[in-house]
Amino acid sequence: MKFSVAIKGADVSKDIECCDTFLIFEEKRGRIIMRQIIENPGHKPDLLPEFLEKFKIEVLLCGERNGQTRQAFAEKGIRIVGDLSGNADKIAEEFARGAKQQANMKSSLQPTPKVLVSCRGLNGEENVLAVAYCGNCSYAPPMVMVGIVPTRYSYPLIKESGCFVVNLVDKKYQETFDYLGSHSKRDEDKLAAMNVRLQDGQKVNAPILPDCPVNIECTVVDSIVTGSHEMFIGKVEYVHADTDLLDSEGNIDYAKIDFI
Ligand SMILES: Cc1cc2nc3c(=O)[nH]c(=O)nc-3n(C[C@H](O)[C@H](O)[C@H](O)COP(=O)(O)O)c2cc1C
Repeated sequence: MKFSVAIKGADVSKDIECCDTFLIFEEKRGRIIMRQIIENPGHKPDLLPEFLEKFKIEVLLCGERNGQTRQAFAEKGIRIVGDLSGNADKIAEEFARGAKQQANMKSSLQPTPKVLVSCRGLNGEENVLAVAYCGNCSYAPPMVMVGIVPTRYSYPLIKESGCFVVNLVDKKYQETFDYLGSHSKRDEDKLAAMNVRLQDGQKVNAPILPDCPVNIECTVVDSIVTGSHEMFIGKVEYVHADTDLLDSEGNIDYAKIDFI
């Protein structure tokens, strides 16, 4: 964002019209990344809004309170922050720092990997749902966590079996991912509707999705109800990966996966 301070000497000018110069600043993420000085072009109040508009100024900091002046600048898309006094650079720095605003706090950690979690209940019923609340939570021993809302049909299946599989998803599987994330097994056999292929896991009693490039088999070792979600902490028991993703030491080249 670009903003300006009308100055006289080194201080904020009491009125815009009589200022000597304008300091022009560009702010990014609360820090000033550009500072420029321009002369007041002739003390003609009517021309100033248009003059500053050319520099793409969005906010003008100054000492005055004049309502009429504000209107003329507002017409050019420039907001006046008035009634300021003191050292212009200091005021500009404070303004830049406060330029960030309170944002929505929900799901603020972004981007997150979007995965498909597959599971199997004790009666053998299998299901898959889309999950964005997930992450690594230990590397020794290797552990991952997934957050499941208790109303999901998959929830009791994971709760009773104590295991799940995290399947990393490539964009090629986007249509299936969207379907599994927007339809519940409670209402229909969504796995049959999308011809979802399943294979038994090697270590846990839950299926893997062979059409996903990486499948992480997990045993639930703990869970925490954080609020909307119950976070299931899964000890990683086995990781399947497509061979073309692996180097000679079994490391996965995640850059080769075109994540959703
Ligand atoms: C992008 C995306 C992310 C999602 N993330 C989660 C999540 O982290 N946890 C969750 O419980 N549901 C999540 N969902 C919603 C479930 O996948 C969805 O409600 C699904 O239909 C549940 O299926 P089920 O009732 O058959 O278990 C997400 C859906 C989408 C599309």
